[in-house]
Amino acid sequence: MNSKSQKSQKSQKSQKSQKSTHNHEEYAQRRAHLMRDMQANSIAIIPSANEIIRNNDVHYPFRQDSDFHYLSGFDEPESVVVLIPGREHGEFVMFCRERDASRELWDGYRAGPEGACANFGADDAFPIADIDDILPGLIEGKDRVYYSLGRHTEFDVQVMNWINTIRAGVRTGSHPPEEFVDLNHLLHDLRLYKTKDEIKNLKTSADISARAHTRAMKSCKPGIMEYQLEAEIMHEFGMAGARQAAYSSIVGGGANACVLHYVENRDALKDGDLVLIDAGSDYNYYAADITRTFPVNGKFSAEQAALYQLVLDAQKAAIAVTQPGNHWNQPHDATVQVITEGLIKLGLLDGDCDELIKNAAYKAFYMHKAGHWLGMDVHDVGDYKVNDEWRVLEAGMVLTVEPGIYVAVDNQDVDKKWRGIGIRIEDDILVTKNGNTVLSDGVVKEIADIEALMAS
Ligand code: GLY
Ligand code: MN
Ligand code: MN
Repeated sequence: MNSKSQKSQKSQKSQKSQKSTHNHEEYAQRRAHLMRDMQANSIAIIPSANEIIRNNDVHYPFRQDSDFHYLSGFDEPESVVVLIPGREHGEFVMFCRERDASRELWDGYRAGPEGACANFGADDAFPIADIDDILPGLIEGKDRVYYSLGRHTEFDVQVMNWINTIRAGVRTGSHPPEEFVDLNHLLHDLRLYKTKDEIKNLKTSADISARAHTRAMKSCKPGIMEYQLEAEIMHEFGMAGARQAAYSSIVGGGANACVLHYVENRDALKDGDLVLIDAGSDYNYYAADITRTFPVNGKFSAEQAALYQLVLDAQKAAIAVTQPGNHWNQPHDATVQVITEGLIKLGLLDGDCDELIKNAAYKAFYMHKAGHWLGMDVHDVGDYKVNDEWRVLEAGMVLTVEPGIYVAVDNQDVDKKWRGIGIRIEDDILVTKNGNTVLSDGVVKEIADIEALMAS
């Protein structure tokens, strides 16, 4: 073997190892699964996310569209995945930016159509600049187009233009599609059932986020700023390779915890208050979504402990019924039952429990649902009802369980001592064949465990 071929072998190898996180087989299986669910003689079109300008030459951090990544693993903007089941020259067609030495020098590497085939499994790939010339020819003759209308406004117009191009040729024998089918329905049902690979990523994201919450608890002391706890959280995310959070972190001290989507995170944390942190990483395209609430000074007051224990009991009751065969709303119903009973016992609600539930009296304190699907997106895709009935839980589904109690500072109906307390406890739950697994169990939530951790 001469030195030249040795060298080229070596550089091939290093290029290959750079791509080793790309699990070809996994993405190929997802595409195959989707194509199996598509009707005969059809085509699916999935555009990438676009870069969004913040100002002048600065963009918001780019994150690939979850549907697009799910099917391709390809992380560049200005790309389109096209799936054509049964196509003789290959079913997986990709459009992407061409390689360009000067653009790459400024903006970073591009795979180019060659790389899309070599490294991402495309059967055929073309420059995105040629899409208007090529895609109508791929659509022509198909009966059905699977596409998510209304999500990418500019791209919608492009799709309609391609269809009109085909329609313009009917007199010369071209065959425009007869049906547009919402791709969300098929694709999002697929995304609802997590594969082994996805569960691994979700677990890693939950572990990173649990460490971040633990770090925040340990760093907390009276006087520290809410944004400083957010910084502790982001440090842990970043050190683990999760450069973005899955959503804006909420760090709310005292009554700020009663603002459900408080993201200003700008106040000082006060001795005697609780602080609520709702934060999760976006790791390898998978979200975690964890909330913990703990005392700024490390010790719960009697009122804080009473309400906290109630939320925790409600959460445990909900997790207990997060089982295959139960329906989507059963965990929520369980939280409503426990919270209403508890609020009566503590004197925040007055009356008959069933009546108070029927009249939704608990909504003055607990105004949101107990959870949502979790996956590549924090509020993940997937239908909650099927034929107008709550969906039955099945193994492989992942959801959050996150009851809360929020007593408004101006709630004149309750004793002063309860006002301004906001508590939520949120975990990420995988439904398994025989029950469930709490993915986010890496951070404590029992009162004694929180106090012990903060004292250490
Ligand atoms: N962090 C958003 C939510 O809990 O749903
Ligand atoms: Mn959350
Ligand atoms: Mn949530």
